[in-house]
Amino acid sequence: MKTPSLLLPLLALALVCPLAAAPVPVSTDPAVVAERLAAVRTPATPDTPRINGTRVVGARPEKPFLYRIPTTGERPLRWSVRGLPRGLKLDRDTGIISGVTPAKKGTYTLRLRASNALGKTSAELDLVVGDTLALTPPMGWNNYNAFRLKISDSLIRAQADAMVSSGLADHGYAYVNVDDAWEGVRAADGTIQGNERFPDMPALGAHIHSHGLKFGIYSSPGYETCGGFLGSLHYEEQDARAFASWGVDYLKYDWCSYIIDAGRLAADRHAELLPAHADVLRSMAAEYGPMRNDRRRPRPPEMSARMREIEAEQKKILSAIPGETLHAIERDIATDAYRVMGRALESSGRDIVYSLCQYGEARVWEWGHEVGGHLWRTTRDITPRWSQIMGIVNRQKGLEKWAGPGRWNDPDMLEIGNGQLTPDEMHMQMTQWCILAAPLLLGNDLTKLDPLVLSILTNDEVIAVNQDRLGRQGWLLRQTDAAELYVKPLSGDRWAVAFFNRGETPLEITFDPAELKLPALSAVRDLWRHKDLPASPKITFTVAPHGAELVALTPVKP
Ligand code: GLA
Repeated sequence: MKTPSLLLPLLALALVCPLAAAPVPVSTDPAVVAERLAAVRTPATPDTPRINGTRVVGARPEKPFLYRIPTTGERPLRWSVRGLPRGLKLDRDTGIISGVTPAKKGTYTLRLRASNALGKTSAELDLVVGDTLALTPPMGWNNYNAFRLKISDSLIRAQADAMVSSGLADHGYAYVNVDDAWEGVRAADGTIQGNERFPDMPALGAHIHSHGLKFGIYSSPGYETCGGFLGSLHYEEQDARAFASWGVDYLKYDWCSYIIDAGRLAADRHAELLPAHADVLRSMAAEYGPMRNDRRRPRPPEMSARMREIEAEQKKILSAIPGETLHAIERDIATDAYRVMGRALESSGRDIVYSLCQYGEARVWEWGHEVGGHLWRTTRDITPRWSQIMGIVNRQKGLEKWAGPGRWNDPDMLEIGNGQLTPDEMHMQMTQWCILAAPLLLGNDLTKLDPLVLSILTNDEVIAVNQDRLGRQGWLLRQTDAAELYVKPLSGDRWAVAFFNRGETPLEITFDPAELKLPALSAVRDLWRHKDLPASPKITFTVAPHGAELVALTPVKP
């Protein structure tokens, strides 16, 4: 197989992104509405209190800390926490823990309690103060799938508000991530500023934090982002400091226009591997550089056309380089580019989750964690089309060995609720992302959730598979024609097993625990329907076309 190239077609992507249309919204046709209601599988959330979400949170010593205890149940609710280390405090009326983490590394077990008029509940949450963030896959929302580059401060605030009012935050969704198109120009001292649609980034961060939610942002190692806004090239430390001062908790760092700089670096550092081309690559970069701008002045069409020509010329040159040679060059350049920002974030004074976005090229899973990354995209951009999502899923095979607490493969954001996937396909995406321990970043408009979409996104037993503290990514155990079985080890010696039907007709799929060399089962739980199934020797589902089922298995203790 030809090695995909990080230096190759990414600017083509940059051209496409801003033009891509947002997905059509969910239909309001009564027949469609009824059909969608009938497809709801998740039982209604009880009114009694229930504490949801992760059971383990990572933080570094002496860093600002914010955690909204995800709790469902009738309001008003009251919370209490035992075991809170000094420096952290709980707001008993909102369930928000805030403050500064202790200086001493170690695991602090917090005993969380929530009560309302109907009852009370408790749960333990381990706060692990150490070096690792994102001990379970990040859960939250990002604007790009639903809104592309058409975003503003007020739109993001409305989404953050909706994350709370819809109840999504009560199930563990916490990051509110602003993607590309917030960036303005640099001030005289080089400080990056929001553009006219984002006049006050710290105030936006404060609004998100006021809900106990987390503030995510976007930039690029290149001069320009994919959408043609200003990136962080040459300003990495200054930008990381600015982000930290705005209260940023998450950075998505998107390769895009770094392609031409990468070409020049390749020429400078690896001239011996590029004997015929080093000079051409350098002169291309020299011509290209001055044409980039920060949107302060419009770019004449002939200039844009020339930039595209240069990109195409570079692509042609690099595609002639043998795969492994190109991979070695790419890896060298990409690790450096990402490490610069990784270090800057680490010394920024805040805990900032670092998401690498370079589309799975240069085998990022092999080095993403080494450069400070907590998650990395493994493929190109997702769209709400079944076949395309399947293409993405196929590319996750074999990547499970690179994932674990603090290091996640990211097959891109969810498309559930974006109007083109059928109910079965939406259940399939959620099941697949949960069994893969993929980040759960919602990609839909949170102000327009219909009951089906909400039910799929808020099934706590399904989410618990994703958030399981072992942090293992599931893998394909068996594939027979259209039937696929994925398995994922869970804490407490349990297993999750997902049944997928990739075909066009209903399919009976059977799983035999002997396939995992498991002894007899003491419990089998249907996680979508919250029902115990008979712990019979084999488990069979008739799975709908493009559909999925998910169970948790508890083996008999030896
Ligand atoms: C790239 C990324 C997307 C999004 C856009 C923004 O295409 O892969 O997820 O961030 O850039 O321009």
